[in-house]
Amino acid sequence: MSRPRKNAGRRGARPKKPSRSPSIPETDLKFKLYEAAVQSSAWQMRYLPLFHRRFTGKPATSMREDFCGTGRIACDWVKKSPHHRALGLDLDAVTLEYADRVNRAALPSAEREQVSFALQNVLFPTREKFDVIGAHNFSFFVFHERRDLLAYAKAALRSLKKDGTFFLEMAGGQGFVETESNSQTVVVPEVGKVKYVWEQHPYDPVTKVSDYSIHFRLPNGRWLNDAFTYHWRLWEIREVREILLEAGFRDTRVLWPTDETMSEYVEVEHGDDADVWLAYVVGIR
Ligand SMILES: C[S@@+](CC[C@H](N)C(=O)[O-])C[C@H]1O[C@@H](n2cnc3c(N)ncnc32)[C@H](O)[C@@H]1O
Repeated sequence: MSRPRKNAGRRGARPKKPSRSPSIPETDLKFKLYEAAVQSSAWQMRYLPLFHRRFTGKPATSMREDFCGTGRIACDWVKKSPHHRALGLDLDAVTLEYADRVNRAALPSAEREQVSFALQNVLFPTREKFDVIGAHNFSFFVFHERRDLLAYAKAALRSLKKDGTFFLEMAGGQGFVETESNSQTVVVPEVGKVKYVWEQHPYDPVTKVSDYSIHFRLPNGRWLNDAFTYHWRLWEIREVREILLEAGFRDTRVLWPTDETMSEYVEVEHGDDADVWLAYVVGIR
């Protein structure tokens, strides 16, 4: 199996002339590699407003990106209009510094004012309220206990406007718990051809916890081992829906990809037992 390739069919154009000699500061390198190999905001830019309007009848202009990392989604969100506003939350100061210095700084000055980042635990509500809150790339799997996921759902609910929506991205299936690794070559701007390795460590069926790692090999042969590591509880869709309702959301929906490129999503009440599945659970306030 290969890790759900969220970017299949979603990534933008590749760079025309990749350089072979990295000129990127060492501290920035792993973030650049991660963004090129793993992240794309295309899905969120298209589907967050679309499903928000479908579920609430209202447009979405304010968005909070939880576990925002380098803040790509927040920075792309504010490009939509001068009325769009985004806040990214993350616990890691080094990652947020990169989000601000590199991604936010790359925006035109007016858009720069529309996005901000805060060093904050998502378990606490923000004073500012949003139309949409999203936790992408399975980031909420960092919560292992039901009480913690419930606390997160309650904090998100308190941070949403009336008719706000809460998008939680999930992955699962037998292929997502098999012990294995797979790799692919990614062309990274200013770096060149990089080998990206996704490693799945042995799954514990008692705790439902599994470890995952991302490694990179640079064009000069140097390895960045364990550039990113994750210790994830693998939640089920049904239990997440139940927790959202318990937290006080008035309804929940499930979004499921229609094909293997995982680029088209529809609302479902049943899914196929795919080797690896990706889905969003949405809570509606
Ligand atoms: C998998 S990365 C997510 C990167 C990005 N959101 C993406 O979609 O690829 C997880 C991030 O969550 C942050 N994080 C973990 N626990 C957190 C918490 N309780 N509150 C806020 N951020 C947290 C970590 O610092 C890390 O940057």
